Amino acid sequence: MSAQRHADPLKILFLASEIAPFAKTGGLADVANSLPKALTALGHDVRLVMPCYASIPKNLLGKRLGTFMVYLGGNHLSGAVRLSTLPGSRVPVYLIEQGLYFARSGLYQAGGRPYSDNLERFAFFSLSALEGVAQTGWLPDVIHCNDWHTALAPAFLKVSQRVNPACRGIPTVFTIHNLIYQGRFPGAQFYQTGLPERLFTPDYLEYYGDVNVMKAGIAFANRISTVSPQYAEEIQTPEGGWGLDGYLRTRSADISGILNGIDYAEWNPAEDPLIPAHFSRKNLRGKSRCKSALQTDLGLPDKNVPLFGCVSRLVYEKGIDLLIDSLETLFREELQLAVLGTGDSELERRLAEASQRRPELLKVILRYDEALAHQFYAGCDFFLMPSRSEPCGLSQMYSLAYGAIPVVRYTGGLANSVRDATARNLTDGKATGVVFREPAVEDFVHAVRRALEIYQDPERRRRLRKAGMAEDFSWERSSREYERLYREALAKP
Ligand code: ADP
Ligand code: GLC
Repeated sequence: MSAQRHADPLKILFLASEIAPFAKTGGLADVANSLPKALTALGHDVRLVMPCYASIPKNLLGKRLGTFMVYLGGNHLSGAVRLSTLPGSRVPVYLIEQGLYFARSGLYQAGGRPYSDNLERFAFFSLSALEGVAQTGWLPDVIHCNDWHTALAPAFLKVSQRVNPACRGIPTVFTIHNLIYQGRFPGAQFYQTGLPERLFTPDYLEYYGDVNVMKAGIAFANRISTVSPQYAEEIQTPEGGWGLDGYLRTRSADISGILNGIDYAEWNPAEDPLIPAHFSRKNLRGKSRCKSALQTDLGLPDKNVPLFGCVSRLVYEKGIDLLIDSLETLFREELQLAVLGTGDSELERRLAEASQRRPELLKVILRYDEALAHQFYAGCDFFLMPSRSEPCGLSQMYSLAYGAIPVVRYTGGLANSVRDATARNLTDGKATGVVFREPAVEDFVHAVRRALEIYQDPERRRRLRKAGMAEDFSWERSSREYERLYREALAKP
């Protein structure tokens, strides 16, 4: 290893399949935007790389630096690398262009069906990210890969003959943002990874006859992290391991949990250009204006009843079925509900149907809308997040920052970021939300009823809201923990 690899500051290449505002389907995109900025603020040279999707806004495409070739799955494939920057910063973002794979309407799927060539697409991306960036003449000290889409990169770096020789031996950190999405494909497609056949065994990428791409990251990264301390424990248990707990336990000593942060430059109710009135912990008046505006925009009666919001991918893991199954009971309470989300078509249908039945109580918006999401956080009194599983969750942090008291299930990062309104926590001024334990309709309804009681008690409501708004989820601390991880990966490859 060259002396330069130990140099301070570090050169870090960050691979992600989505980065806000280039492309976003969930929290990974936000983390891929804000963590690199925080690391840059610590003095490191951080560069990002992602696929050049057709949906990336034209003004973010930057300029083309050059072309390259990779050999994968028996084919010589060409690609191009573009250079852009993260808006509002100088952080370079490399975009890997290949029309065949990325010039499509969706990132991972169309019409609810994953693209059938996703293994090929992301194997290509993982190898091309290394090749394309190496060709620009810049080489990182450490490479940070995120989720299954980039999990082949650590394997390429350690065992593949196809990787650019200049990159070989560069240590990697692999972050699991969500263990549910493992990148599983039929075993017959293994050749598309370009990895040697000997890796198609249960010790490496094979999983009951299938290819499991996530396993490549777990097997070959120098260090593994996930996005909250609680989730780091959960994924090593049979209940939370989604079939990979045993495999993860083999690397237990190298796994850590680092809680995500949020970017307060984007998410600050005192300055947010996307909301109709501004407010802060010290002056909450603007929040009522945001609530009235949201009620009006949504077509809900503008009255003084608690407004419960939910901004979410509409999938089973987010506990959306618990919310739907609770609706008939909740409709008997004095409240309003609003849901913004997209996802599973059956959950979408059931929500839309419930809203048609009681339009004055429930409004459902089935689209992806960044501005409206901000208006939800600002306008709602409570934020619902009944997740069955939640590696970290950013939405509860945004809602805390915007004074929408979160009602969450005790799991993963929700357990690490919301403190229940128990009598003791309330007395100590520590309570920030309502937390329930079991993923059951009765428990969720009970939690909503506790929230209703809080609403009826303005002093308690004010204290909770203020305590939540005082929380600090900035990247300051977590980015230092990543820095430590990079140095560990460098010191002990
Ligand atoms: P996940 O990544 O599992 O979806 P997170 O809580 O980490 O969960 O991040 C979700 C992010 O996606 C938040 O920024 C949230 O506001 C945003 N989001 C989810 N659905 C929508 C939507 N329909 N419109 C706008 N933003 C959304
Ligand atoms: C994943 C998780 C979410 C987490 C996000 C960012 O999408 O589902 O809980 O906040 O990644 O790490």
